[in-house]
Amino acid sequence: METKLQRIKHPALKERVVTPEVAASWITDGMTLGLSGFTRAGDAKAVPFALVKRAETETFKVNIFTGASLGSDIDTAFAEAGIVGKRLPFQADPVMRGKINNGDMLFVDQHLSHTAELVRSEVIGPIDFAVLEAVSISEDGMIIPSTSVGNSSIFAEHAKNVIVEINMAQSEMLEGLHDIYDTGKQGERQPIPMMHPDDRIGTTGIRINPEKVRGIVFTNQLDSPSTIVAPDADTQLMAGHLLEFLREEIREGRLTDKLAPLQSGIGSVANAVLHGMIDSEFTDLDVYSEVLQDAVFDLIDAGKVKSASCCSITLSEEKMAQVFGDFEKYRDKLIMRPQEISNHPEIIRRLGLISINTALEFDIYGNVNSTHVSGTKMMNGIGGSGDFARNARLSIFVTKSIAKDGKISSIVPFASHIDHTEHDVDIVVTEQGYADLRGLAPRERVPLIIENCAHPMYREQLWAYYQEALTRGGQTPHILEKAFSWHINLKQNGTMTQKVDELV
Ligand code: COA
Repeated sequence: METKLQRIKHPALKERVVTPEVAASWITDGMTLGLSGFTRAGDAKAVPFALVKRAETETFKVNIFTGASLGSDIDTAFAEAGIVGKRLPFQADPVMRGKINNGDMLFVDQHLSHTAELVRSEVIGPIDFAVLEAVSISEDGMIIPSTSVGNSSIFAEHAKNVIVEINMAQSEMLEGLHDIYDTGKQGERQPIPMMHPDDRIGTTGIRINPEKVRGIVFTNQLDSPSTIVAPDADTQLMAGHLLEFLREEIREGRLTDKLAPLQSGIGSVANAVLHGMIDSEFTDLDVYSEVLQDAVFDLIDAGKVKSASCCSITLSEEKMAQVFGDFEKYRDKLIMRPQEISNHPEIIRRLGLISINTALEFDIYGNVNSTHVSGTKMMNGIGGSGDFARNARLSIFVTKSIAKDGKISSIVPFASHIDHTEHDVDIVVTEQGYADLRGLAPRERVPLIIENCAHPMYREQLWAYYQEALTRGGQTPHILEKAFSWHINLKQNGTMTQKVDELV
């Protein structure tokens, strides 16, 4: 029977095993922690909870840097315990979101490829402790990550101390999947030697000086399952429109049925859109994404995928059991990279990605808001969407045309917060249809967006705004005093709908 210590192959490191409580006791007020974890996958689990427990009898605050959102309700527990001073670069937790929006904790909403650069150049940090989940430690002291790489390698390299959490519930079959590559310092680095999505360019684990490993704890807990909901009628329609667009690109000779490496963002909508490719004619697909959700594994099952590169694997409970129960079937196709590499502008532009991300809302000119509800309240964060949108061959945003039973139109006169400017948005898709904005001037975009993407219940209102805006002139016509009137109406009256002849 496998013993825990067999997972620590480096002889000297076997001596460093401690309890999570002991490891957490090293962390003191004001420290900065770099935790593993990316969209609920591969997060350090025991030390964070031991830290939360300490907060029952002690008052302290720490800064929490991660790859992206954490699972296992760790962000909930952190937020409820009130121990986080500053959090970056992404979160997706309702309780934490509430604290951020109340001003009780600070949140830096950061492009996910940027955190590593900021740590490397010592703009943020120093990191006192990196706490990293692993499946094992190799004979030569390499840390073998589990279901995400995220920012773990940059944290390990730059932290003063490292605590490793070896999770016995994570399969050792994950070893060999990772491809850890460090870009080196800006100004001194070479081109990243990746020409194809499935090129391996690094090592299979995180190489650090074993002396930095202050302690090793054992855990035995699976990742939290993803929270995506199954495709519905609207998301299936969106998938259909997107496929129609891609077929048009093939007819125009700009793509083949192998498409181009695909990136699909977090969330139910992006997952459903990829799911829609299962019954398509597309074949031999390469996925070069940040997160692999259920749909990618469904596409592998359908024989559609040649390779799938990511920095984390986040699955529903059912899919997790299926994938790890039959892992050999998927193993050869998978590569897991640091998020700096999965989201690197150089690679995204070189490979010519097709990027599909989700918007909360977009405006009649194609500016996209992915993060701030009604312009002020943080939802999750920009995540990797900006890394991809700015650099992809095709930057696609999807969203349902209405939210909250139609009280909200996702197509508005002026986006109440802009994460992706009109310059970085190529195609917008809703269940109504798609608008291909490439090469179009602002005034050419408006009719397409209103007619193809807006919900019929809001089209007349949008036209009324635009017609009045046209009387003011401009490259991008607007009525500034009315630009946010829809959001104001929502706040005051609980809906964006207004009779056109009563428009304020
Ligand atoms: N105004 C206010 N709320 C809106 C809205 C709008 N225009 N559009 C959608 N919503 C609400 C929905 O009603 C839903 O609310 P609920 O949680 O109370 O049910 C919530 O936003 C999520 O919307 P949903 O339609 O379920 O989409 P999703 O699960 O796909 O999430 C984002 C959408 C935008 C929140 C999510 O994709 C995100 O955080 N994106 C930014 C990060 C990113 O793109 N990363 C990708 C790189 S990998």
